[in-house]
Amino acid sequence: MSKGEFIKRGTDYSIIDGMRTLPGKYYHSKKIYQEEVEKIFYKFWIYACRAEEIPSVGDYKLIQVEDESLILVRDKSGEIKALFNVCSHRGTQLCVTPKGNFKSKSIQCPYHAWTYGLNGKLLGAPLMKDGHGFQKDKCALPQAKVHLWEGFIFINLDKNPEPFEVQMEALIGKFSDWKMGELRIAHHIKYELKCNWKLILQNYQECYHCPGVHPLLSELTPTQSAQHDSMKGAVIGGFMDLNKERGSMTMDGEAAAPAICDVSGADLQRVYYYSIFPNLLLTPHPDFVMFHHITPLGPDKIINDCYFLFRPDVINDPKAQDGIKSAVAFWDLTNKQDWQVCEQMQTGTKSKRFTRGYYSGREDVLFQLDKELLKALGHKDSN
Ligand code: FES
Ligand SMILES: [Fe+2]
Repeated sequence: MSKGEFIKRGTDYSIIDGMRTLPGKYYHSKKIYQEEVEKIFYKFWIYACRAEEIPSVGDYKLIQVEDESLILVRDKSGEIKALFNVCSHRGTQLCVTPKGNFKSKSIQCPYHAWTYGLNGKLLGAPLMKDGHGFQKDKCALPQAKVHLWEGFIFINLDKNPEPFEVQMEALIGKFSDWKMGELRIAHHIKYELKCNWKLILQNYQECYHCPGVHPLLSELTPTQSAQHDSMKGAVIGGFMDLNKERGSMTMDGEAAAPAICDVSGADLQRVYYYSIFPNLLLTPHPDFVMFHHITPLGPDKIINDCYFLFRPDVINDPKAQDGIKSAVAFWDLTNKQDWQVCEQMQTGTKSKRFTRGYYSGREDVLFQLDKELLKALGHKDSN
């Protein structure tokens, strides 16, 4: 990547000596946010939920993507469907309870009782007969595409999305030693933050801030050990070395649990940080996996759902609970340190006196992230 290759030189905002950040409007403008929704969240593969959250036939979870509500449901054949939560009759939202099980193995609209199968097919429409334009078999619920990767369900709302393997090329085969499909959620923390979704991605991908913001993290993983090993399109990631042999990111730096399945060699001494653009931040440790699911709620607000995955035998072992708690406590502390500076950056970048800043050499990957964003938005320049 050559510095400034996509930004015109010679304007007030041009790159002269180094890489420049996005202008503040990218974190505040409702217009730009709406463009991001249309061109990124409605077009890219996005993370929705874990397969283990809907394990049985009829289990469902609602996923909100800006104005679109989707019912992630396991159908009678065990497949996961992502049905648009809108009745084909007159557009009523079908389901409002965030998660549960469709006991009747069907979905009934509360208004005029049209009934759909778990695969979205219209099964019954009282008093309606085919004819005069109405055709029952044309009234199935629209569906988003679904792709399962290592227990993570991704969906794509676009009618003709690019293949998952193209957007997520760098993920294919990566982390298979963790057997993440077999891990289970041991803990979940929901954070509501007053900042733009991109600030969380940026914060996650640089450790320039670590010495000042995260004293404990910096003790466990030397900040100068941070390296990137993937900068391919939507997947940007790297790792940091753990100081302690067989250590992990916990309050005392000791492993929270035995190493996961096939994790071996150098991976026993590393913590990976992968941004899976746009809404999943994945952190595999030798002994557990932490991840953030980001849901934007406007230019200046997000929900960040943070999950901890452990092996089922660890979750069920009473003696292992202290280890799990120590990992959760460490990341809750570290997360809150990050959220504080992200929220302050959100406030600061609103100032008319902030035009755009300068990236350090240790933040070059953020420049790459910005570039992906601008490419997705079709903006030649961020002015
Ligand atoms: S709007 Fe759903 S049945 Fe009438
Ligand atoms: Fe941080």
